[in-house]
Order: sequence, then structure tokens, then C-alpha cells
Amino acid sequence: MERFYVTTPIYYVNDRPHIGHCYTTLLADVTARAERLLGREVFFLTGTDEHAEKVVKSAADHKVSPIEWADRNAAEFRKAFAAMNFSNDDFVRTTEERHKKRAASYIQRLVDSGDIELGDYEGWWDASQEEYLTETVAKRHDFKSPVTNKPLEKRVERNYFFRLDRYEARLREEIDSGRLRILPDARRNEVLGRLNQGLQKVPVSRRIRPEDVDWGIRMPNDPDHRIYVWIEALSNYLTTVDNDARRKFWPADVHMMAKDILWFHAVIWPAMLLALHEPLPRTVYAHGYFVADGVKMSKSLGNFIEIDRLEKYAERFHRDAVRWYLATQGPTGASDADFAYGRFVDVYNSELANGVGNAVSRVASMVQKYFGGALPALATGVVTAGDGTTFDLRARAAEAVRGFVEDIGELRLDVALRRGIGLVEEVDRMITATRPFTLAKAETDAAMAQVGEILTTCAESLRIATLLLAPAMPEKSAEVWRNWNVAVLADPRDANARFVAPLAELAAWGGAHSMREGHVLEKGDALFLRADPTEPAPASS
Ligand code: MSP
Repeated sequence: MERFYVTTPIYYVNDRPHIGHCYTTLLADVTARAERLLGREVFFLTGTDEHAEKVVKSAADHKVSPIEWADRNAAEFRKAFAAMNFSNDDFVRTTEERHKKRAASYIQRLVDSGDIELGDYEGWWDASQEEYLTETVAKRHDFKSPVTNKPLEKRVERNYFFRLDRYEARLREEIDSGRLRILPDARRNEVLGRLNQGLQKVPVSRRIRPEDVDWGIRMPNDPDHRIYVWIEALSNYLTTVDNDARRKFWPADVHMMAKDILWFHAVIWPAMLLALHEPLPRTVYAHGYFVADGVKMSKSLGNFIEIDRLEKYAERFHRDAVRWYLATQGPTGASDADFAYGRFVDVYNSELANGVGNAVSRVASMVQKYFGGALPALATGVVTAGDGTTFDLRARAAEAVRGFVEDIGELRLDVALRRGIGLVEEVDRMITATRPFTLAKAETDAAMAQVGEILTTCAESLRIATLLLAPAMPEKSAEVWRNWNVAVLADPRDANARFVAPLAELAAWGGAHSMREGHVLEKGDALFLRADPTEPAPASS
């Protein structure tokens, strides 16, 4: 079986999760679920990055030890991700022994190979971002953090350095050749542009000061230093699978993140891997930012969309609706996207309540009304309306599936998911044009045969559409399959169960998984109840 390994950034535990963390993890979840649907053996990893100085600071502010604070927030992340029904196969914390031990061993290997060496470092420290900035960058931003605008601190340290400069040519070659794919394209160009300005060696350790809290991983060869948090954090992608059972997943197929941390993932991490003689990840995907009602979310503005708010939306509209909105309306590409209630309700009503929900219930009702709930035949897939228009749903479904597979491969996740909705819309158009409810009034054999042809074609199209929607709406899709007695999950009661066959087989029109003559469709409850656009937004408190 082909394997697939997808990761999210590991998130800082100085604070609780918010929409940004959920969004990236959702994209990784949609990718993981889609790849499982395609028949691959998937490993999906997320987790938390705990050795940052800001974790120590935040813990002190809350009068608890760093590990207590990390425990508390790591638990919040776990809880939030479970509430969003993310299907991660593991959750790594960098304070875990399994990570610390291996991260230190990679550093030792780099010291041994001469890729890490001692030197003096003088630079501008951005405490809010935990990174050094070069003189040029610091100057350009008036010696303030480009992200938080807080003053930079001049620091001189005797440090260990990673010889990033050694890997410039090879990195360029990997990126140019597409062996290391950076998506979207705009981001790739940015990285190449910055690479052309040349690479310098980067500090990878911090000298431990007497007043420092004991936090972080020590340099294996020199306990007076600890490993710079970014360097060990990046290695989580490898430490977690660096064992007999999981080694087969490396290299990662996709590292998912937002644009803020692309440089670390597209340049520093691959260079470390080159130095370790490890194969490189295949794709680094950097999406844009979620903004709140048009304004960038920030701590100081206090306009973060917190996880509690998403949970309220999920209670009101179902978490699959939240997943759908975020996955299809979010900043998947190079630009940012808004989270706004008005937009949420529009999308919810048009695509979910009046879209897939209505189509499913309409078709099941008509099958009930005209055929006692059992399909009268195997769907032909091609229906001609009274005005002579022909609807080839069979071809449309095949096209949707083909497009979906291609889009998933290119990580156009929002486009891939819309393929399912596109197919639902085609079903609606076909119903509108062929008017089965009018035809049925004639009650002649010929008319009822045509009604049967229309409805079986609708049912088969919707069966296929729900497969394509499932990576974003696993539970609602499973609900349709349950009501329609479609056995595509190993356990029909468990929306997260594995698929019994790969998409190519499941989605084959008239194939082994199609609904035959006599197949019973139960109506079930409405999937998504229409929302009144004037009702107030779900509030988090
Ligand atoms: N700990 C580092 C990552 C180390 S990975 C080896 C870190 N953590 S973070 O908690 O700050 O998370 C940053 C990531 O959270 C972004 O790259 C993105 O995935 C997600 N987001 C945070 N805010 C976001 C938005 N406003 N919008 C979309 N995603 C955002 O950096």
C-alpha cells in the first residue's frame, strides 16, 4: 500500500488554541482523510512545541512551572483537536523523552560531521518571535520586531552554528527541480528570491545563564548550552517516526503551515536533513492568514477567534459545517481570508442546507413517495429532459472524481471539496429540468420508468458526491451512507472508520458499491437545517 505522511506545525503552548491553529490542522486532516479515501496508508502528525522562552515567561506570569503550564495548554490543544474531529495518528510534545532523545542525537550527528561548529554570534534578538534577525532586517524595521513591533535586543553569544551556507546550491537545485515542492507558487518564488541573497550559518544553541529556568534540551556535547528551540522543534517530524514501526513513513509528503514559518520549513529544515543524509520532504505548503472581520487577529487587539467560539458554531450548526466553512473559505492560497458570521451563514445555507442537505432529502422523499423507498433499477446515469437537454451525470461524476484526485495531489483542497458540491448542483439542475414530481402525476408506466431513471441517477450521483465531501464532512457523509444503506465504511456507525475500498472502486458508477434495484433509502433527519440569517452569531460566553 502506498504511504502518506502529513504534518502540521507543532504549536507553542504559551497560550490556548485559536482558529489559526485549528485551520492548519483541519487542512492537514482533510488531506489525511482524502489520502485515506484514495487508499493510502496515512500517518498524520500534530503536536506542541514546548521549549520556547515564551512558555517559561507565560508560565511565570501565571505563577506555575513551565511544565505545568505546558501540560495544561497541550491538553487544551488535544481537546480542541478532538472537538474538531481531527484524525491525527499521534500528538507529539517536545517535552517527551522520545523527542528529546532523538533530537539531541541528530544534533550530535551534525557536530560529528562538522555541520555544527562553535563561533561567536552577535545579533538582534526578537524575544517575541524567539529568533535572531540580521542587522539589515533589524535596521529596516527600526530595531523593532517586524511581527509584534516590540524592541529588539542586541545579544552577543558564543554559540554553536549550523553551516546553512554549505547547502545553498543543493537547496536551490532541490527546489528548482521540484523535488522539494513549495506551494502555492507565489511562496516558492519568495523562497527562491531570498535564497538568491545567499545563506549564512545560523546559531543553533543558547548559552544557559545562571538565572535561567532549566527548560529545553541540552547540547549533547556541551551541557552549558541548550539547543535553540526552533532547531529541535523542526526535528519533531523525524523524531516521531524514527522507530522501527514508523520509519517507513519518512520522508514526509506534506508539511502544512502558514506563511509565517515557511523559511524554517523550506530552507533550514531541508538543509538539516541534507546534512543528516536524510531524504527531503516532498511538499511544503504555506497558506495565508485568517483575519477576523477584515482585521488581522492579534493578542493586543483581542480579536482572536478562540476555539470556544468555533465550538459554539459547531453546537449550533454542527462541526462538519464549521469544518466545511473553514476548509473551503479559508486562506488556502496565497492570500488571507476573513472569518465573518454573515459569510458563514451564506455558505451554510447555500452549500449545506439548501445544497447537499436539500438534495439528499428531496431524492430520498421522492424515492419513498413513488417507489416505497426502494430503488426501482440500477442507475443509467444519462437522462434526457422534456426539452431535449441531456444530463450525463455518469460522466459528470467521473469528471468530479478525476478532478478531486488531481486537486488533492496538488493540495488544492478547497477546489477538491467543491467538486462534490458541483456534482450536487448538477443533480439539482437535472431535477429542475426533468421535473420528476410532475412526471409522476401521469402515473403511466413510461412516466414512472423515467422518474425511476431520474431518481436512481440522482441517488447514485449523491452517493459519489458524499464520498468527495467526506474529508471535510465525515459525520454528515456517514449519516447519508447510513440512511441510504451504503456500505463504504468498515463500521457504518463510526464516521472515522476506514473505507472498505479505495475511491476508484467506491466511486465507480454501476460498480460493486453502487446501489442496485431494490436498494432501500431511508429518509432520515435533515442533514443541515436552514439558518435564519437574522439570528445572532453564536457567542462564546
Ligand atoms: N512552534 C512554532 C512552529 C514550530 S514547527 C516545527 C510556531 N507555533 S505557533 O503556535 O505560533 O503556530 C504557528 C502556526 O499556527 C502558523 O504557521 C499557522 O499554521 C497557524 N496560525 C497561527 N495564526 C494563524 C492565522 N491567523 N491564520 C492561519 N493560520 C495561523 O510557530
